[in-house]
Amino acid sequence: MSALFNKSMISTDEFAQRRKTLMRLAGESAAIIVAAAPERMRNADSAWPYRQDSDFHYLTGFPEPDAVLALLPGRGNEVILFCRERDPEDERLHGARIGPEGAVKHFGMQDAFPFEDIDDILPGMLEGRERLYCHFGAEAEFDVRLLRWLRRLRSARGGGVVPREFTSLGHLLHDLRLYKSPAELKLMRRAAEVATHAQLAAMQAARPGRCEYEVEAALLHAMRSRGAVPSYAPIVAAGANACVMHYRHNSAKLQRGQLLLVDAGAEVQCYASDITRTWPVGGKFSREQRALYEIVLEAQAAAVDAVRVGSPWDAAHRAATEVIAEGLCALKLLRGSARAALQSGSYRKFFPHKTGHWIGLDVHDVGDYQVDGEARLLEAGMALTVEPGIYVAPDDTSVPPRWRGIGVRIEDDVVVTARGPEVLTAKVPKAPTELEALCG
Ligand code: GLY
Ligand code: MN
Ligand code: MN
Repeated sequence: MSALFNKSMISTDEFAQRRKTLMRLAGESAAIIVAAAPERMRNADSAWPYRQDSDFHYLTGFPEPDAVLALLPGRGNEVILFCRERDPEDERLHGARIGPEGAVKHFGMQDAFPFEDIDDILPGMLEGRERLYCHFGAEAEFDVRLLRWLRRLRSARGGGVVPREFTSLGHLLHDLRLYKSPAELKLMRRAAEVATHAQLAAMQAARPGRCEYEVEAALLHAMRSRGAVPSYAPIVAAGANACVMHYRHNSAKLQRGQLLLVDAGAEVQCYASDITRTWPVGGKFSREQRALYEIVLEAQAAAVDAVRVGSPWDAAHRAATEVIAEGLCALKLLRGSARAALQSGSYRKFFPHKTGHWIGLDVHDVGDYQVDGEARLLEAGMALTVEPGIYVAPDDTSVPPRWRGIGVRIEDDVVVTARGPEVLTAKVPKAPTELEALCG
């Protein structure tokens, strides 16, 4: 196998095991179809950097667009891939392709066919299957193809038997993705390590007078020089920009005395990390900044401690909101008691988001948060972020001016283990004195 195709730290056996488990869950009379991500154009003939669809990657490790996986459970447990054929001329322009032979040889497929032939071959494979699992309504082009395959099957000579049930694949597949294997956790640890380097580089770069994009450049350099890519567009938000949850401009100048919020993660072999740190530009928290920072820090510690086997997934959020409501009431930013603030939800003005989300192949990873209407209980191998924050809008006249425009979030990535929470991103400092020393 060429070095190009031999990059995954997940073994071919593990990919095969995932397919086998999915087929067992789907049942013998089912068929499962999963498509690769299409190439997406940025403008004219310039494509965005290619990122494989997470579900397709989870089941194949196959890194190209124009590919469809068909799983046919039953006696043969057939695993079929449709993919682009080798094409020396195109490969001279766009790089090597794996081709159907390579897919069988290196990716554990039982059989593989040219993508061009899919309309002729795939409908026959669905014949007589009772249930079809796939993603409906996610990619318009795939939906059109799917309907075409079904039409072709129906109009086949003698009348093909079209599956009677169409079932959303997400529920089965995304439940599997929720439990990370040792090999996946290894990649997530690496993604966390790269993001740790990136945050440290950002702290070095964030001098008064520099621009947010210069800090972004330091983040990107730290990631790309380690072979990773960002797992989402980094947020580098100085001062009141931190109060914009999805701030993306990264264009303002950093001023001494502002807080800088940096939310950035790295992606390694499709696995994400997601870290936020907030520190004072110039290295000295004001009294108000520090007061809010310490509340968020305490809230985060309480929330991380709630990430335990058997606890509901939202226990972390409840722990964080209690600390934040108490802190805001003690500072008189909220009137009345913490209990009243929790009951009325008035704290949400300052803490408008949840304390975290699943993380894995996607930064906001898949998997149901509720089971039978109740918060899901945490199990070993699940991974989530813990990211409370406090944001005082710059135009919030309900609080004295000295509090306005301060935004703080602290975010780490945590794996649920039988021994308690494993914080993958623990090496990025977050104690106020440490941050002051590092960023001064
Ligand atoms: N960076 C996106 C998030 O924290 O959820
Ligand atoms: Mn984040
Ligand atoms: Mn996050």
